[in-house]
Amino acid sequence: MSGKSGLSVEDWSNAWENDVTPWHVSTVNSVFEKYLKSKYLHAEESKKLSCFFPLCGKSIDMLWAAKQGCLVRGSEFSQKAIDEFFFENAIETSHFGGFTNSEEDSLNISLRPGDFYLYPEDEKFEFIFDRGSMVAIDPNDREKYAEKIFNLLQDGGIVLLEAILRDESEIANGPPFHLTLEQVKSAYDQFGLKVTELETRHATQAGHGQFTLLYLQISK
Ligand SMILES: C[S@@+](CC[C@H](N)C(=O)[O-])C[C@H]1O[C@@H](n2cnc3c(N)ncnc32)[C@H](O)[C@@H]1O
Repeated sequence: MSGKSGLSVEDWSNAWENDVTPWHVSTVNSVFEKYLKSKYLHAEESKKLSCFFPLCGKSIDMLWAAKQGCLVRGSEFSQKAIDEFFFENAIETSHFGGFTNSEEDSLNISLRPGDFYLYPEDEKFEFIFDRGSMVAIDPNDREKYAEKIFNLLQDGGIVLLEAILRDESEIANGPPFHLTLEQVKSAYDQFGLKVTELETRHATQAGHGQFTLLYLQISK
């Protein structure tokens, strides 16, 4: 997959420092909300579902999940992004164990600044929401990325992935990079994870024209 390469830590850091974060949306992802509600959030005991958000930015989906009672963990290079997440949602924080943590008893959220590939693997998750994450990394790192997700996912756990199908002329441009069902399967196959298609949606974004969002379920 030569010819395509991702952004460096400095590139991502500069984007946050300069407030150039076009991927950030201020509403909860409707597929994520629908999926979690239908699969998990109807039973009382499911309230403590453990959710992980790789390359989390300051996604509002994390707040929504925490408000449903989920345990929320995330990994993000940029401490500024993490600080903005808590500040913009008026959540007091503390710092310990390398995490920035919600101080509100009702919101179990801990986000870890640093490289996702170095995120500790002692805690495994029932659910991982991959939005703007696998499509954001260097396409040459997809197998390494899949291995990390595999290591963080509990047996029986599920990943909901938002992949992106772009026009032929745009395929090499990114992030977000073009990411097909076959490419996701090829990255996850060696770890024995099952990838199935859930639904597709059409979208547009300034600078990226039209594209298709492809929602996949990955099961361990
Ligand atoms: C396209 S944004 C998506 C953010 C978020 N998932 C969302 O949907 O809003 C990708 C984020 O990943 C972060 N990032 C990129 N590579 C990373 C890595 N190796 N470890 C941790 N964070 C990373 C960037 O700083 C950026 O905030």
